[in-house]
Amino acid sequence: MIIAPSLLASNFGRLAKEVDRVNRSGADWLHLDIMDGHFVPNISFGPAVVAELRPLSKKFFDVHLMCSKPEILLEPFAKAGANQITVHVELGERLPQLLWKIKSLGVKVGLAVNPPTAIAQMQPHLDKIDTLLVMTVNPGFGGQPFIYETLPKIQQAAAWRVEKNLRYHIQVDGGINNKTAGECARAGADDFVAGTALFGKPNMKAAVIKMRRIVMDNDPALADLAV
Ligand code: DX5
Ligand code: ZN
Repeated sequence: MIIAPSLLASNFGRLAKEVDRVNRSGADWLHLDIMDGHFVPNISFGPAVVAELRPLSKKFFDVHLMCSKPEILLEPFAKAGANQITVHVELGERLPQLLWKIKSLGVKVGLAVNPPTAIAQMQPHLDKIDTLLVMTVNPGFGGQPFIYETLPKIQQAAAWRVEKNLRYHIQVDGGINNKTAGECARAGADDFVAGTALFGKPNMKAAVIKMRRIVMDNDPALADLAV
């Protein structure tokens, strides 16, 4: 199971301190949301910021590109220290080349699907990815409510993983809190991005422990063992 605090919900005026909170929290990954003001109606930060943060943490840097032209950003983010780069399935026919390029840069490959997009669009790419990201809000902003209609997509991603004997993480991102994390875990998710629910707490370590416990309590595999 992966718990990934999303830096988007941090105080941008003291990023180094916020990264240190993540270092001390027991979380697994640091999720970095990159927004270009075109694919989504917001702008966050770029590779120069990620490069400054890289020496401050040993955490796995999970870079989520919500960008219309990821082609020009893959190398800069790989150089800045990304461990995984996620692009969106909405980019369509450019995907085979994009996924290949990410892999060739020596980083893990993520593929994300927005709430209005059919999960079927992920199917041709499943054997090329390390993380399948089911967006549980429309991307662009932190602090939005979880969209329940996305739960069947998690179930489908989990069913494909068994059927095709694949090992990708099933990541959820947007509106994840102690209630929705449990619901996503029950549907098959194993990788939880949370901004507001983790950065918003004065004690991030306690918040991570609590979320981990809730995910474990709702893990269908562990429920089978308990019977
Ligand atoms: C949404 C971003 C998320 C965001 C989640 O556009 O991709 O990673 O930070 O924030 P919360 O957890 O506050 O919904
Ligand atoms: Zn994200």
